[in-house]
Amino acid sequence: VTIDWDAEAAEKAGYEHFMLKEMYEQPKTVADTLSPRIKGNDIVIEELGMSDAELLSIKKIHIVACGSAYHAGVTGKYVLEGLARIPVEVDLASEFRYRNPILEDGAMVVVISQSGETADTLAALRESKKRGFKVLGIVNVVGSSIARESDNVMYTWAGPEIAVATTKAYSAQLIALYLLAMKFARVKHTVTETEFSDMLGDLARLPDQIELLLNNKNRIQRFANRYIAAKDVFFIGRGIDYAISMEGSLKLKEISYIHSEAYAAGELKHGTISLIEEGTLVASVSTQPALYKKTISNMVEVKSRGAFVLAVTCEGNREIEKASDYVIYIPQTNPFFTNSLAIIPLQLFSYYVAVGKGCDVDKPRNLAKSVTVE
Ligand code: G6P
Repeated sequence: VTIDWDAEAAEKAGYEHFMLKEMYEQPKTVADTLSPRIKGNDIVIEELGMSDAELLSIKKIHIVACGSAYHAGVTGKYVLEGLARIPVEVDLASEFRYRNPILEDGAMVVVISQSGETADTLAALRESKKRGFKVLGIVNVVGSSIARESDNVMYTWAGPEIAVATTKAYSAQLIALYLLAMKFARVKHTVTETEFSDMLGDLARLPDQIELLLNNKNRIQRFANRYIAAKDVFFIGRGIDYAISMEGSLKLKEISYIHSEAYAAGELKHGTISLIEEGTLVASVSTQPALYKKTISNMVEVKSRGAFVLAVTCEGNREIEKASDYVIYIPQTNPFFTNSLAIIPLQLFSYYVAVGKGCDVDKPRNLAKSVTVE
């Protein structure tokens, strides 16, 4: 007897694409990256290899990465600065390596990479080490070049990622950055004990909340099907929501080939607004209660110029409905962690637009999973 054995189909475990499978692995990825580092009511990151006194001596953090890992880094800047009050600079690795960056005493370099093989990120790491700075790698692939050459490695436990467009590794990178920020915040006493344990509770709830959002996929698929012929899509947000917008926009253009841009919502009037036509889709991410009103006013600006406004916001923000055409609510969490939830509907949207267009979702044209050349 011969049995037809399609190894790839077996690896997809019943999912149509690796990307869908990997999106569905996110609750586990998040839990796996989180749980080994939560000890009782504390965060313990042994891999940091730093005492509390050493952590206190860090005066500045430089985050360096490419692609989605860079977008995770942009979120990391908001979270680290907001929670731990440490100044953070985020650089694209290809820029950092050639801009003769100013690294002063007390600086720490954090490189983020799923593959651990990205040439520019590796070069940035080497440059930092050459100048005598310690490098922390946030890496997914165990034993990769970046993992081997970093002074310390904080692994993201996302497992192998096959789809070129990253989903679960990005989600795990966010968790690693939240943990780092909370660790610094605790040591520096920039959050109270109550705030800290509330945040631990919020982190622990993320996997179930992500699951809930994934289960909403049919509604997002129906919505996505309306946009398979879109020419341009704009993503807007402020603060952390701007960082989410960047990743949402990248996902869409990577796999669906639809032109897309992320714009800081307050900057709209200096550019993107001239591109809004009747029916242009604008996805507005608004998860920061302190900024709701500001973003709503930007949504009104584009809506009054004919845009169709998709809003991604937190449960309870009913105000947003008057400024949008379609709303996706995410569950409540600490405002520093909303990226982990808001990105889920945006990933699903990109995926279903690409599927609807008949694109090769897992292997988009011209892109590579790991870019080992400059
Ligand atoms: C490629 C991939 C992206 C990824 C980027 C950085 O462009 O297609 O998904 O974000 O490289 O890769 P890294 O492995 O360093 O995270």
